[in-house]
Amino acid sequence: MSEQPPSTDLITLTRHVLMEQFRLGSAATGDLTLLLTAIQLTSKFIATNVRKARLINLVGLAGDTNVQGEEQKKLDVLSNDIMVNALRASGKTAVLVSEELEDAVIIEDTHKGKYCVVFDPLDGSSNIDAGVNIGTIFGIYEIAKGSKGTIADVLRPGHTMVAAGYTMYGSSANLVLSTGNGVNGYTLDASLGEFILTHPDIKIPSRGKIYSFNEGNSMYFDTPTVNYLNSIKYPPAGKSPYSARYIGSMVADVHRTLLYGGIFGYPTDKKSKKGKLRLLYEAFPMAFLTEQAGGLATTGTKRVLDIEPTSIHERTGIYLGSKDDVADVIKFYEAES
Ligand code: AHG
Ligand code: MN
Ligand code: MN
Ligand code: MN
Repeated sequence: MSEQPPSTDLITLTRHVLMEQFRLGSAATGDLTLLLTAIQLTSKFIATNVRKARLINLVGLAGDTNVQGEEQKKLDVLSNDIMVNALRASGKTAVLVSEELEDAVIIEDTHKGKYCVVFDPLDGSSNIDAGVNIGTIFGIYEIAKGSKGTIADVLRPGHTMVAAGYTMYGSSANLVLSTGNGVNGYTLDASLGEFILTHPDIKIPSRGKIYSFNEGNSMYFDTPTVNYLNSIKYPPAGKSPYSARYIGSMVADVHRTLLYGGIFGYPTDKKSKKGKLRLLYEAFPMAFLTEQAGGLATTGTKRVLDIEPTSIHERTGIYLGSKDDVADVIKFYEAES
């Protein structure tokens, strides 16, 4: 068998986004490309720190709690600082919202641009010390015409985002991105320091065989959730039950769901009445990617991307994934109402 020579025409993330901008013609200014360059830098920087964490004393707690009452890990704080610094320096942002910062950051006039970035700097903190996959999640809004960039520019439904994505730090760093025209996945080539297009035009299978819930919360689940889970665990004769996979890092659980299909859920329940996952920087970006890949994202009764946020750290229940699987959940909620 003859080996193929290496490609001499790599499609990097920047090249790919530029190709899309060329396609859009004069409407595109290149600003989004520059903002995405800054985001790529943060992902490379965070990936390096994640990889070295145990060697350079980056595991464990930072000693503070965030606005959600969670203990911050050293990597949560470091990743947040990396993102705030790079996004401000890009000159392309006006408002930043981070899981780790109580208030939104309003960028000063000297550095102000037209985009708002909402982000979860390090998702899956509880998995850091065990070396399990973690990630960064981000969503991008453009400020409203005439606005100088205020909190109102990010208190808008997810369907108004201009781009969303995540980077998963695993055996390699994978950046998955949508600028509203499908979903593409890029893998960091560490020797080049570039994200290379490896997963063009990701589409979720219309039905999967995997469910991903923290079933340890079963005693708190509402009736539609319990009934839905029973329907996939005890299917009618002749059908196989679904397999369970739950990593506990939303980035990793959603990444698998996008590639293999199936359903990921973190519903509201009797304990977390408003849900656990944060609307702006967890649910919206992941719902945006899921819909762009041909799947669905719902609270059970409402499309996630249609929710009007009223505060930057608000939470929501969510089910996302293959469209037929999510449609089944919706049916159980309709039956209940
Ligand atoms: P974060 O680490 O950014 O606070 O997010 C944690 C989230 C999310 O990654 C995951 O899906 C979920 O919490 C897991 O929650 P449980 O541990 O309750 O299953
Ligand atoms: Mn957290
Ligand atoms: Mn998170
Ligand atoms: Mn986080």
